[in-house]
Amino acid sequence: MLKKIKKIKGEALKKISSANTLTELEDLRVFYLGKKSEFNDILKGLKDLSTEEKRKVGPSANETKKGIQEALENRLMELEEAEDAKKEWIDITAPGKKIKKGHLSPLSIVQNNIEDIFTSMGFEIADGPDIDSEFYNFDAMNMPADHPARDMQDTFWVKTGSRKEEERAVLRTHTSTVQVRYMEKNKPPFRIIVPGRVFRSEATDPSHEHTFHQFEALVVGKDVSVANFLYIAESFFTQFFRRKVNVRLRPSYFPFVEPGFEFDINCANCGGKGCGVCKNTGWIEIGGAGMVNQKVFEAAGYDRGKYQGFAWGFGMERLAMIKYKISDIRLFHSGDVRFTRQFK
Ligand code: PHE
Repeated sequence: MLKKIKKIKGEALKKISSANTLTELEDLRVFYLGKKSEFNDILKGLKDLSTEEKRKVGPSANETKKGIQEALENRLMELEEAEDAKKEWIDITAPGKKIKKGHLSPLSIVQNNIEDIFTSMGFEIADGPDIDSEFYNFDAMNMPADHPARDMQDTFWVKTGSRKEEERAVLRTHTSTVQVRYMEKNKPPFRIIVPGRVFRSEATDPSHEHTFHQFEALVVGKDVSVANFLYIAESFFTQFFRRKVNVRLRPSYFPFVEPGFEFDINCANCGGKGCGVCKNTGWIEIGGAGMVNQKVFEAAGYDRGKYQGFAWGFGMERLAMIKYKISDIRLFHSGDVRFTRQFK
């Protein structure tokens, strides 16, 4: 009997250790430990043995059972691990997956570009709040409450719960708000640029947005002139478009400048010959400019007639649209990386 047990054990352990699949292992378990197994018969027969035989055979039978069980468990673990390892197998020769990442908006690219060019010309970058008082947006810019020019810019008013004029607030309609804000704290001479977000209560279409970005420039000193403005504007646009750009002034009106202009550049697309971008005129309208109205200096606390300066303002989206031939201003707000990824 002992011999038989020993034989079963030896055979079982050998087969278990070479079992290669989970089903094979299960079959072995049934074959060696199952109810109908030879070994089970032996266990069942133990009770018929004499006490002395029981003492000899019993422990060995139990030990064998335990040994086979352990072997089954160990092999099971090994096979399961091997199975998992197969699943986690990494093909190191496979080409890498491209990691998708974000991309700067063409607007940010243009803004960075503008800031680089102006800081290289000795300008400082200034800013102000998006929500500003009626004073900085209008009154200080020579647009008192009854001034018809206030209607030039459809305004989003902000509910402040106050009727006092100095506490009434707007979403700023232009970056010109920063002119007086800056001048209250700084004395000429200075040159600043103010890139920033502005808002107008307008219906949107391919060339109008309720929220867009402007770019103000303000240069003030003792004898700053229109010639300085022209020179700085031409050097800026020439650097920005990387080709010689001419600036043309047309008389225009803004309450905060005197005289006031609108300025055009010769078409970056056709170089002035006439094309679809410039509607065959050879010129593209860029924005407003002019010599700072003395009333604006007075609002900032400067003495009348003491300084001269020029200011300009234009839409940054418009500049990006010209540079990258983007046809619809609303794309800037689409948040779609398929759009932003196209620009360098
Ligand atoms: N603030 C004006 C606008 O938004 C632009 C401008 C700025 C005009 C500075 C003249 C001088 O339309």
